[in-house]
Amino acid sequence: MEIKFPNIPLYQGWGAPLRVESDLRDLELIHGQVPEDLNGTLYRCGPDRQYPPMHGDDIFIDGEGMAHMFRFTNGHVDYRSRWVRSERFLLQEQARRSLFGRYRNRYTNDPSVAGRNQGTANTNAIWHGRKLLILKEDSLPVEVHPDTLETIGPWDYQGAVKAVSLSAHPKVDLHRNELLTYSYQATGDGSTDIVFYIMDAEGKVTQELWFNMPYPGMVHDFAVTDTHVIFPFWPVITDMTVVRNGGPYYQWHPDKECHFAIFPRRGKAEDIRWFRGPAASAGHMMNAFNEGARLHLDVCLYQGNCFEFFPSYDGSPYRPCPPQLTRLSFDLDQNRTDYASRILLPTPSEMPRIDERYIGKTYRYGYMLCRSPDAAAAGTIGLSAIGCIDHETGALTTWSPGPDSGVQEPIFVPRQIGAAEGDGYLLVLVNRMPENRSDLAVLDARSIADGPVALLKLSLRVRSTFHGMWVPGQALQTGIYNV
Ligand SMILES: [Fe+2]
Repeated sequence: MEIKFPNIPLYQGWGAPLRVESDLRDLELIHGQVPEDLNGTLYRCGPDRQYPPMHGDDIFIDGEGMAHMFRFTNGHVDYRSRWVRSERFLLQEQARRSLFGRYRNRYTNDPSVAGRNQGTANTNAIWHGRKLLILKEDSLPVEVHPDTLETIGPWDYQGAVKAVSLSAHPKVDLHRNELLTYSYQATGDGSTDIVFYIMDAEGKVTQELWFNMPYPGMVHDFAVTDTHVIFPFWPVITDMTVVRNGGPYYQWHPDKECHFAIFPRRGKAEDIRWFRGPAASAGHMMNAFNEGARLHLDVCLYQGNCFEFFPSYDGSPYRPCPPQLTRLSFDLDQNRTDYASRILLPTPSEMPRIDERYIGKTYRYGYMLCRSPDAAAAGTIGLSAIGCIDHETGALTTWSPGPDSGVQEPIFVPRQIGAAEGDGYLLVLVNRMPENRSDLAVLDARSIADGPVALLKLSLRVRSTFHGMWVPGQALQTGIYNV
């Protein structure tokens, strides 16, 4: 059988499957100097199609996981990428073709893989409990070796996790060395079960709370404060009748409300407070924090459907809506179910990150992809700049690598243990589209508009990755974060 990808934009240009595992020792320096105090590893993960899809209407969040690492050692930077050898990957490798059909729809899979794990392991990489875990929200984590990226296998916390999957957006509490995570549709496709877990520094489950979602929605991300947990439920919903008929796994329901469940980190089911509001959606949260009895959630909010490839259930056409950083405020003191909403940044922005020592705390700086001045001039959304918002002043500063280049999610690295908030670097993969290759930019997080303090060249393309994490060398050795 010939290997031929469909002739569609998804697989053209920057999106063309790469299907290559790479090792590049000592990246070339284009300009600047790699800070000597950067010692550790940037891990990232994204999809890369192993074989042409079974169906022509593939979507970009599908595709087998490729793990990437950039190891910084005394001014040297080495790059490595490896496929995550998930069960799905190994089955397809053997068959020399795709065996899994439409996104998350097991009713469209090849009959030979009935009952097998269809997880792609393509969304995020985290280091916790002395393990490097590659995550995709439809399945359990896959452990890979932190030095070689060699796949070790699926990880269910020694049987302690009974859910069928774990989120790709857990939060690592760097102060307590705890992992806060969850599973949605936790007992199977289309179920309303959701479970929240806390794992300690050794990966032992120390908290587990099961409850039910208002509908079998997608819960791609959540947020925590120092004291509480917030689960947003946007009306992007699984209808198993549609799925069984080979349809999309999710559909947008503009007639349904958003719901938010808020409870103490160590709370019980009876502690859950519910809030409701008009239909909206989001992929990613920037942060959440407490202010007295109020709890604030900063989220890149779409006033409509954030997923063009998950259609409306009623056939109504997709209406583009830009993501805007929005603060939703919930009052836990009063007996009300509504919440306040305030746009913090009108400029479209996505893939928000922060100085992660401030997860759950009052914080000043947020980093994200945002609309570049070039895109603004062209009248498009084009999130091709890196932005830094200062919540104290409301000011946005940006850096754009140029009109023909794109950027990927920025990752903050503190300059040193005990550094002030925002005192450190941003690591940013730059897509050099015309040259079909990547750069890695190191920005000073306090002055991103000045451009990179070091710009490193890759002779190859790092196909778009979704998320990742910086792991200090010390944390890799000891398993303990020291902030
Ligand atoms: Fe995500």
